[in-house]
Amino acid sequence: MADSLLGPGASATVSVPIISLDVTMRRYISKAAAKSQVEFDYDGPSMKTSVPGPRSQELTKQLGDIQNVGAVNFFCNYEESRGNYLVDVDNNRMLDIYTQISSIPIGYNHPALLKLMANPNHLSTLVNRPALGILPPENFPDKLTESLLSVAPSGMTRVQTMACGSCSNENAYKAMFIWYRNKERGHSTPSGDDLSTCMINQAPGCPDLSILSFMGAFHGRTLGCLATTHSKAIHKLDVPSFDWPIAPFPRLQYPLEEFTKENTQEEAHCLEEVEDLIVKWRQKGKPVAGIVIEPIQAEGGDNHASPDFFRSLRNIARKHGCAFHVDEVQTGGGSTGKFWAHEHWGMDDPADIVSFSKKLLTGGYFHKDELQADQPYRIFNTWMGDPSKNLLLAEVLNVIRRENLLEEVTRSGKALLNGLYALQAQYPGMLSRARGQGTFCAIDICDDATRNSILLKARDKGVLLGGCGDRSIRFRPALVFKEYHVHLFLNIFNDVLNQHK
Ligand SMILES: Cc1ncc(COP(=O)(O)O)c(C=O)c1O
Repeated sequence: MADSLLGPGASATVSVPIISLDVTMRRYISKAAAKSQVEFDYDGPSMKTSVPGPRSQELTKQLGDIQNVGAVNFFCNYEESRGNYLVDVDNNRMLDIYTQISSIPIGYNHPALLKLMANPNHLSTLVNRPALGILPPENFPDKLTESLLSVAPSGMTRVQTMACGSCSNENAYKAMFIWYRNKERGHSTPSGDDLSTCMINQAPGCPDLSILSFMGAFHGRTLGCLATTHSKAIHKLDVPSFDWPIAPFPRLQYPLEEFTKENTQEEAHCLEEVEDLIVKWRQKGKPVAGIVIEPIQAEGGDNHASPDFFRSLRNIARKHGCAFHVDEVQTGGGSTGKFWAHEHWGMDDPADIVSFSKKLLTGGYFHKDELQADQPYRIFNTWMGDPSKNLLLAEVLNVIRRENLLEEVTRSGKALLNGLYALQAQYPGMLSRARGQGTFCAIDICDDATRNSILLKARDKGVLLGGCGDRSIRFRPALVFKEYHVHLFLNIFNDVLNQHK
C-alpha cells in the first residue's frame, strides 16, 4: 500500500497544502481548500510510466488473443485503488474524473462498503444469485424499501430492478408499449388475433407503435434502445432498426445569460418539432407510445436544456397520451447536486418512467402504477437485478446522507465550473462552452484531434477524463470529489493546456 494512503478508518484531521488556481492561473497555496475530513483517499496522483505502461501492454496483448481489445485503456489494480484514485497494474495512481464511465458512486474501496462485504451475514447474498422474478430472498422487499424506494422519484412507488442500463431501458420501452396497447383496447385481454399474429411478428399482435427520441441521445446498444440512440454511427452501423421519430435536441449557445433569446427560440423550435412528429407518426399509423429523453444528453456531448423545456415536453407527452420516460442512467445518483437530475425541473409529476443504473449499482426503472405490466413474464428475465447490489446501494445511500455528499457535489461542482470558466478565458482559442450542473460538467475543445491529445496528456500526468460528443471533455467524478480535488485537477489541466498552446 502506498505511503501516502490514509488507511480505512483513519480519523486524524489531515491538512494538506493545496495548490489552487486563480483567474490569472498563478499557482498559490489555498487554505480554504484544505483537505480536512476523515479520508480514505490518496494525497495526489503518482505516475511511474506513461499509460498504458509495460504491464498493461503485456496484458492487452494477452487479452487480445481472446477478445477485441480496441477499447481497453489500461489494466487496473482495484485492490490498491482508493477513493478518487484509480491505480493501474504499472502502479500509476490517477485522479479519476471519469469513474468507470460515471458508475462509481462513492469512490474506490469505500471503507463502509468494505465493512459491509466483510459481514458474514451477507455472504449468502453474494454467493447465491437468485432468479429474482420467481424466487426472491426473504429480505428482498425490505432491501428494496431501504435502498431504491427511499430515493423513488416524485409520484412513483413501484420499481423494477434489472441488470444494466440498456436492459432497463429496453424493458421500460416494453412497459410503455404494453400500457399503450391496453389503453387502446380499453382492457387488458388480448384477442385471438393478437396472440397468433404476435408469434409471426405481425400486427395487431406486434403493433406498429413507436418511441420518440432525440438526436444526440444515447439510451443503450440493445436493439430497441439502439433505435433511440443517435450519438455515434459506430453504435448503430449494420444493425436493422425501427422507423421511429427523432426530434432535434436544443443546441444551446453559451454563455447562457448572453443568449437567452436565441436559446428560448431554439427550445421552442424543438418542442414544435416534437409535436409535429407525434402527429405525423400517428398519421403514418405508427403512434408514439412514449417519449424518451436524458435530462442531460451525456454520451452525445453533454447537451443541456432548460427546466422549462422539460416541463413543456412533459406536458406535450401528457397532451398526446404518450408515456414520458426520463433516462437517468448517467445523470441519476447525485452528480448534478440532486439525487435525480429531473429534480432540477421542480415538478411533482416529472415522469411516468425513470430508468437508472451506473451510480445506483443495479439497473432498473421506477414507474407509475399504471405502467405495471398486467401479467407475469411480460417484463422478465432470469436475474432481474442482483440483491447483492441492493445491499451495496443501501449502504451507498447511507454514506451519501451521512456525509451530505449532495451538498459536497454542489460545492465542488461550483468550484469546478468556475475553474473551467477561468481556463476558458485563459485559452479562448482552445476551450469553449463550459457547462454543467453539480460536478456533471463538460467543456468543448477546438477540435476532435486536440481533444483526444489533451485526454492522453492529462492521463500521463495522472488525471483520467472522458470524452463525449464530437469534441467535448466530460467530468464525471465520484460524489466524494471535494473542492480539494477540483483544485488539484485544475492545476494539472492547466499544465496540459499550456503545452498545447
Ligand atoms: C443515458 C444512458 N442510458 C443508457 C445507457 C446504457 O447503459 P449500459 O451501458 O449499462 O447498458 C447509458 C450508458 O452510458 C447512458 O448513459
